[in-house]
Parts: sequence; C-alpha cells; structure tokens
Amino acid sequence: MLEERISTSNIKSGSVVVAGWVREIRDFGKLKFIILADREGEVQITAKANEVESEILEIIDKLGKEDVIVVKGNVRENEKAPGGKEIVPEKIEILNTSERVLPLEIRSKAKAELSTRLDNRFLDLRKKEVLAIFKIRSQVANAIREFFHENGFIEIHTPKIVASATESGANVFPILYFEKEAFLAQSPQFYKQACVVGGFEKVFEIAPAFRAEKHHTIRHLTEYTSVDAEIGFIKSHEDVMKVVENLIKYIFEKVLERCKKELNMLNVELSVPKLPIKRITMREAYKLLEKEGYSVEYGDELNTEAEKLFGKIVKEKFGTDFVFLTEFPWKVRPFYTYRKENEPEWTKSFDLIYKGIEIVTGGQREHRYEILLSQCKEKGVTPEKIEFYLKMFKYGAPPHGGFGLGLDRLIMLMLNLSNVREATLFPRDPERLEP
Ligand code: 4AD
Repeated sequence: MLEERISTSNIKSGSVVVAGWVREIRDFGKLKFIILADREGEVQITAKANEVESEILEIIDKLGKEDVIVVKGNVRENEKAPGGKEIVPEKIEILNTSERVLPLEIRSKAKAELSTRLDNRFLDLRKKEVLAIFKIRSQVANAIREFFHENGFIEIHTPKIVASATESGANVFPILYFEKEAFLAQSPQFYKQACVVGGFEKVFEIAPAFRAEKHHTIRHLTEYTSVDAEIGFIKSHEDVMKVVENLIKYIFEKVLERCKKELNMLNVELSVPKLPIKRITMREAYKLLEKEGYSVEYGDELNTEAEKLFGKIVKEKFGTDFVFLTEFPWKVRPFYTYRKENEPEWTKSFDLIYKGIEIVTGGQREHRYEILLSQCKEKGVTPEKIEFYLKMFKYGAPPHGGFGLGLDRLIMLMLNLSNVREATLFPRDPERLEP
C-alpha cells in the first residue's frame, strides 16, 4: 500500500492511501474517528459501523496515540471534518506501535517545560509549530546559499579539529587528539582568511562552531551554526557591512515569499528591513546610552543589558529592529582586527544588532605582516602557536574582511522565540549533551 501513499495536503477525491501517526482517536462505539497526521497536516478517518467492515472497527479499538498506520479509503466531503474532507477506510495496517503513556503531549495547548520538550525532542518535533520553525530554518539556509552563489562566493568546508584558538583562548574546547594538543574550532576565522589569501577572493561556509561558554542564557549554545563569509580586495569594513545587509534583506524576502503558511502558524509578522541599515559608532552608542542614564566605560563592550537598551533606543529613535554598531574599541576585539589609521584605539569592525541582540560580528582584517605580528604580541597571543596563520601574510595577502552570523540567533529573533534552543534541533549547552 505504501507505494501509493499521498500526503494529507494532497487529498482531493476518490480512493487514496495515506500514512502517518495516530494523533487522536475519538470513540463513540459504532462511530470512530482517527486524526491521522503526517508532515503536511492532518486528515480525519471516519469509521461508521454500517459503512465499514467490522474488522476495521476492531483494528481501531487496538490503536493508541502515535501508532504509525497506513490507511486506504475513499475521500468524502464533510464540512465538519478538519479541511472539509474525510476518508472512509477500507483497509488499515499498523506499521508500528507507540507506548501508551507519552512523555510529551503533541497536541496539548498547555506548553510543556522546554527541558521536557528537549529531553523528548523526537516527539516535540512532531508538533506542527515546531516543524514550522525548522521548515523556515531550512529555507533560510537555502536563501543564504542562493545569495552567496548569486554574488560570486565559493562555498568552503574547513576543519573543525584545530590546533589553536582564534577568538580568545578562554572559551575553546580542548579535545584528545593522540599525543597532541587540539581544540574544537570556535570559528573558521583563520581558514576562511586562508582561502581569500589563497586566491578564492570570496568564500562562505555554513558549519558548526564550538564555544566552551558556561553561560546559561537564552542566546548562548556550546555548539551553534555559524554562517561565515570572507571577501578579498575590500576598501574597508563598510564593504563587508554592505554584503551583510544585502544578505539579511535577501533572507527576509525569501522567507516571506516561501514560508507564508509557517509564519502564519507561528503568528509571526515579518517585514523586509529597509536598506541601508542604520550605522552607529560605538562612541555614539555610549552617548545614546548615557542620555538614558546608562553609562558604559569608554572603550568597553556593551554587556547584555546595555545591548538590549541600545536596541530599544534605536527602535524608538529610528524605528528599526536592525542596527550596525561600528568602530569597536581595539581593547575588546581580537588581534586580527584592522585598526583605524589615525585612531588606533578604534577598529574597522562592527556588530549587527537585531532586536537588542548581537547576531553578526565582522570587520576588516589586518593583512600587513609586521603590524599583525605586533598586534598578536600586544594581545598576548604566542606567535609560534599560530605560525601557519601568520606565515600566509608574508606571501601577498590582499586587503580583506568578513563576518560571522549566528544562524540559531537569527532564527530565534526572526520568529520571536524565547530561547535560542528552540531554534536548534538538538541544542548543546553546559548541561545538555543528549539527545
Ligand atoms: O562574535 P563572534 O565570536 O565572532 C567570530 O566568530 C568572528 N570570527 C566573526 C568574524 O568573521 N569576525 O561570533 C559571531 C556570531 C555572533 O554574533 C553570534 O551571532 C554567534 O556567532 N555566536 C553564538 N551563537 C550562539 N551561541 C554562542 N555561544 C555564540 N557565540 C557566537
């Protein structure tokens, strides 16, 4: 029967075969209903004593929620049925059974605790709102690939087992690698730069990044999906921001075009951001915050609270959810960052803030060997430990820059989810290593 199977979204008329999970059973003795669910939706199976073989009623008596069945039957109009159609079964086959007590209710209106949901993620994924999140995430990834390919970027795949930290030494995961010291990659930073120096000019990667961060926040994971890009022959970080904003615009346009049903299901109203996205320097941001009575030490980063307040100020003052925070202090940026020519305490770098949370970090990179070496020492990075990286700047490195975008955070904020874990299939955090 399975080879004739059609999706519940394709049910029109005549004889059909559908397969899926028994989501609900309603039993009125001589009249029994099954709500059968598959990826695309649900359909009602209606079995009346005088309309179906008695064997069918016996099979339905044996069924429990989340059993997997295949049903052959005839489609009939019924305005009371969900979707206006029902199937009168001729044959029901049980493909597999489920335990009778479920650790998680799939159709329940009451929201289960996130930890219970994640412990039973395989069941949680059967909820249509959860599926909608991942259908959208799939389309976002698709749009990202399309955007980069259309704009001449080459997709790369860089190693995730690495010999050194790239962002800061504090949050790398050490791993056992035979007799050597090794880590899980925090970012493809050095390798994406290596590809540009290697002559690829424009590259991108969508891959996991690992951070040993013991934070318990709604926006930190220990493994997240990073969208990285690196671009050669730029004039400044401004060229990188242009790519970021065009990418964001493209993603929003495609999601609006392709995910109407899913956005409706999640009650999300999206609008495509207007370009150019507002740029505000860190120095201006300190002043804006100061005016609201929140003072940040000159040259410091914005903490979570300040970032949130900054997002709020920008929303009220400029009516936008997106803002580029530019010219970060040298003090808080990694050694590879390009400093402003006449103001070396400030850098040619930026973050993109969306609804008060950082989703992108980027900037121009220092490509001049001697300066890079001295910046490296200034930040306390041992040059011998990153010799392979430094070496490439001796053989003709063009000016370049790039960015890293946290995909999980983007999805969380785009869909108004309350936690980044909801945007991630099987999230990893300091406590969670399974499922
Ligand atoms: O700000 P980060 O650490 O920057 C880099 O990795 C640079 N190599 C990027 C570059 O090309 N200059 O991380 C970039 C983005 C953040 O803005 C955030 O969206 C996401 O990655 N991110 C995390 N997402 C979830 N959990 C975490 N622990 C994250 N850490 C960073």
